Amino acid sequence: MGTQFTNESISSLSADWLVIGLIESAPLTEAVAKLDKSLAGLITRLIESEDFTGKQATTSSLLGLTEIPTPRILLVGLGPKADVSLSSLEKSMMTAARTISTKQNTRIAVPLPDLGETSVTASEASRVISTSMVVGSVGQDIYREEAARHPFQDILIVGTNSADQSTCEQAVEQGLILGESINLAREMVNRHASDIFPISFADRTVEIAKTYGLESEVLDESQLKQEKMGSMLAVAQGSDQPPRLAILKHQGGDPSAPTLALVGKGVTFDSGGLSLKPSDGMKTMKCDMGGAAAVLGAMTAIARLKLPVNVVGYMGLVENMVNGSSYKLGDVLTARNGKTIEVLNTDAEGRLVLADVLTLATDRGAAKIIDLATLTGACVVALGEEVTGVFSNDDHWSKAVQDAAKSSGEDVWEMPMFPQFAEQLKSDVADLKNIGTRWGGAITAAKFLENFVGETAWVHLDIAGPAFASANQPCREGGGTGCMVKTLVEVANQFK
Ligand code: BES
Ligand code: MN
Ligand code: ZN
Repeated sequence: MGTQFTNESISSLSADWLVIGLIESAPLTEAVAKLDKSLAGLITRLIESEDFTGKQATTSSLLGLTEIPTPRILLVGLGPKADVSLSSLEKSMMTAARTISTKQNTRIAVPLPDLGETSVTASEASRVISTSMVVGSVGQDIYREEAARHPFQDILIVGTNSADQSTCEQAVEQGLILGESINLAREMVNRHASDIFPISFADRTVEIAKTYGLESEVLDESQLKQEKMGSMLAVAQGSDQPPRLAILKHQGGDPSAPTLALVGKGVTFDSGGLSLKPSDGMKTMKCDMGGAAAVLGAMTAIARLKLPVNVVGYMGLVENMVNGSSYKLGDVLTARNGKTIEVLNTDAEGRLVLADVLTLATDRGAAKIIDLATLTGACVVALGEEVTGVFSNDDHWSKAVQDAAKSSGEDVWEMPMFPQFAEQLKSDVADLKNIGTRWGGAITAAKFLENFVGETAWVHLDIAGPAFASANQPCREGGGTGCMVKTLVEVANQFK
């Protein structure tokens, strides 16, 4: 896939599709009006007859055109001017990309819509359109003989105002990088657990590090033992697949500058262990490495964008399975920081993996930490399938992450960290137990993690809902979503 920014006229350029975003009840832009003239007023007639209204994310296809070099036009509604935002534009453009990506080797051209008097600038629109075209044209076809969706070959974003040329060009390139990084995270989640297990995931990180100039390190089982990561190792014990800790480093800033650590839960399959999940809860558990996939995607983007900051990504990779060596209920584990944990449910494994990885990240000198994990069903009950839960020990850091999510168009919501939730984790035989009561499970999980970050400013993102979409929607494909990649890149972009 390649993206380009151009100032060519949409009436004379040649592509397979023109994707034209139109604001509800707004006059046509100069370029679209000219095109409309070439088409003998077809677009105007569609609007007048209300066959196309510009309502958000609605589409209308004009096919078999002979008056212009491009034979097909997709009109896509952007909604009323007052409602246009980065995320509404993304939704419309994702819908457009998904509508027309049904054939191979498609070249598309998208004129920048007229977003004057909205909150969206031309360069932001260039970036969002570019990302949407890259993400929206890739489906879940890894294991299908006949692909349902085909990545666009060329994506032309067509500008109107030549003054913006160079910032828009940059934005289009950034959008491509973000889109490809999101697609990488999606691919990792979409591959089934027989393809992606700790070793194969770690191998992929090494390969990607070589491609994009990241430093990489992989700790194997014996190194994890040396590091005393008893909590993470206990989870891995029940699987034939040995665990790995994959680390990627981007040294873009001064060596003395602070380091941002991104920590991802990488449970490549979560059967629940001896506290076995029923089939219904288990069937999508290849997605339980969505946190690690987001870290991998974000690190790739951060390296490709050459951000002038120091970022380290940690991916804790294990498979939570059942065999004769599985960790058991009642086991008392010793975590890397010396704390002991009574296991009362082997399905609360994510926190056991993160505990040790968080401690390692703090010991290695992280100034600030963000962890991402498909951690609790309780978070999905609380916030639904599309909102990420935010938990933190530091209000400033939490605000910085929430602001980055907002400007990336990703929905997050802060949850309380009241001390009484920690009470639930008191054990009679160990320092902590790994589950609380039935209620407030997303919060007790976060309170558990808080024990492993010391005084370091830390944000925990529970992505159990948004990491994986159970069904297709017009504006997005089902399966892995690559959620939080954009937010992490924006956090790194703002990091000082
Ligand atoms: N990986 C699951 C959480 C999950 C649920 C992710 C649904 C995505 C969708 C996690 O390891 C888990 O099993 N959590 C338990 C915790 C409980 C045993 C305290 C849960 O949510 O039921
Ligand atoms: Mn589990
Ligand atoms: Zn899990």
